[in-house]
Amino acid sequence: MEAKEIRKKFLQFFEKRGHAVVPSSSLIPDDPSVLLTTAGMQQFKKYYTGEADATKDFGTLNTASVQKSFRTSDIDEVGDESHLTFFEMLGNFSFGGYFKKEAIEYAYDFITKEMGLEISYVTIFEGKDDIGVPKDEVSKKIWQSLAPELVVKEEGMEDVFWGPTGTSGPCGPTTEIYCKNAEGKDIEVWNLVFNEFFFSGSREELLSGNSGKKLEKLRTPGVDTGMGFERLVMIAQKKKNIFETDLFLEPFLLFLMGNNQRGGRIIADHMRAIIFLLADGVRSSNKGAGYILRRLMRRAIVQTQLLGFSQNSLLDRVPFVIKKYGVFSDYFNMPEREAIIKSEFGAEMEKFGRTLKTGIREFFNKFPEMNVQRIIPGRSLEVHIVKRISGDDAFYFHQSFGLTLDIIKDLARKGGHIVEVDDSEFEIAREKHREISRAGQEKKFGGHGLVLNTGELKAANEEEVKIVTRLHTATHLLNAALRKVLGQDVRQDGSDITAERTRFDFTFPRKLTPEELKNIEDAVHDAIQKNLTVKREEMDYKKAIQSGALHFFKEKYPRRVSIYTAYDPKTGEELSKEFCGGPHVEHTGEIGRFKIIKEESSSAGVRRIRATVE
Ligand code: ALA
Repeated sequence: MEAKEIRKKFLQFFEKRGHAVVPSSSLIPDDPSVLLTTAGMQQFKKYYTGEADATKDFGTLNTASVQKSFRTSDIDEVGDESHLTFFEMLGNFSFGGYFKKEAIEYAYDFITKEMGLEISYVTIFEGKDDIGVPKDEVSKKIWQSLAPELVVKEEGMEDVFWGPTGTSGPCGPTTEIYCKNAEGKDIEVWNLVFNEFFFSGSREELLSGNSGKKLEKLRTPGVDTGMGFERLVMIAQKKKNIFETDLFLEPFLLFLMGNNQRGGRIIADHMRAIIFLLADGVRSSNKGAGYILRRLMRRAIVQTQLLGFSQNSLLDRVPFVIKKYGVFSDYFNMPEREAIIKSEFGAEMEKFGRTLKTGIREFFNKFPEMNVQRIIPGRSLEVHIVKRISGDDAFYFHQSFGLTLDIIKDLARKGGHIVEVDDSEFEIAREKHREISRAGQEKKFGGHGLVLNTGELKAANEEEVKIVTRLHTATHLLNAALRKVLGQDVRQDGSDITAERTRFDFTFPRKLTPEELKNIEDAVHDAIQKNLTVKREEMDYKKAIQSGALHFFKEKYPRRVSIYTAYDPKTGEELSKEFCGGPHVEHTGEIGRFKIIKEESSSAGVRRIRATVE
């Protein structure tokens, strides 16, 4: 059965059972706290919480979709039989229409009857007392009544408890279905989530168990399922790995039939991801989703060089992928973006290609032993010799030639080396580099040019540096005051500080009242009056999170971070504690008079305050 028939079968199965088929949402999610769409449920978050009404929007409480999804978490495993960065997720969802019984029965019927496949085993949630969620006996019984012989394994939080995605959201226990591939290996195919709870923090906070936040029961429990399409196709087509399915073989035969199996698979995976990301409007950059795209593009380029293909062989594949996917209404935007996809990818090749060759040459000059080809042609034999590269060396190649850690690891593999780079050493080297360039900027005091531009703060001369420093500490006090007056759910959504004002965006559903604004201003005044001490500490990222320091979810932080705390030296009471690169005043009294000048809407659910210091 071809992949496209399986796709159709899935949607028709659920359509027949009263589900509305909903198109895939974009890879760029609406939710600003998530970089890219990782699951089918993301576009439906508001229906689980009751903020939106599914009956009104879809004519039913039950939906089904094929969702384009992307996960960086699996990037290191790409090359094995079943892991991908970009993948399609088949899902059925219910927002109060049905729950465990129907969801498990549908899944069982689809896999065993509709597809005629065998389930190897299933898992259920073993329960966790300290968060008050018991073992999922209900699901266990449903499985046992459907198939008395079926093995039901019990697993924990890490594996069979879903969510929340982003900074808060629905979550709950899951039950997973495993099937065997043609080699007899058990592969997780389908994950059925029973969203019974809402957690007003991130998944990390939930797993840490010490956030002080509790799971709340959702008024109406919901169902969210996700089945890896490529994996299902692999099982249905009786293949050993996803790359042998028609989804990959047709567009990427050239790469997949080569001697270096892993390299070919990386190219195939990354190429699909690159094309889908570009089609949805992601552009190469050094931050966020753009940086993920850049990493994928550069790595694919390096792999083609290592495999001895031309760069054009990548661009040549673009129309094949578009032909394969553009026929589905979900991906209608692909064919019309073919030209832009090619030109954006081509531009990265041009930009990176120039330094890449030198980078590779320099790398093998420094580590000649890694350039000895140990992969025997015709066989994909991998010799594993573990080799350490210092964080400084890795950062040097990163900084000078754009060789990301993924690429360094790939280069070393050529000679059969598994390279270990100490990530925290790498981050320290990166931080050192940042400090040096910051110091370089500060030396320009009194001269002209950009003295300070961290992206968040901008100043053009020494006088302005002083003002933005005061505004910066004031911004921390404002953040603390907003949470004090409006509630602890308020989250920073962005900020920008110039010598004229601070501009601070935060999540809040409505316009602030004059009284609230006054209370916020008063709270900041109060902190200034108290002349709090501002101290800087450096600590491990994990420890910093545990300390309860506020961090900005859109920012990627290194292993070691710096934390600024404003505290009362007499009582030790901490008023504000945030992840931050500075600069800040030493005592809040230096800030002067703080004044809110405007409060307005920034985007849906986000408010914007502008304030000055005098
Ligand atoms: N949202 C669930 C997952 O992605 C179904 O695994």
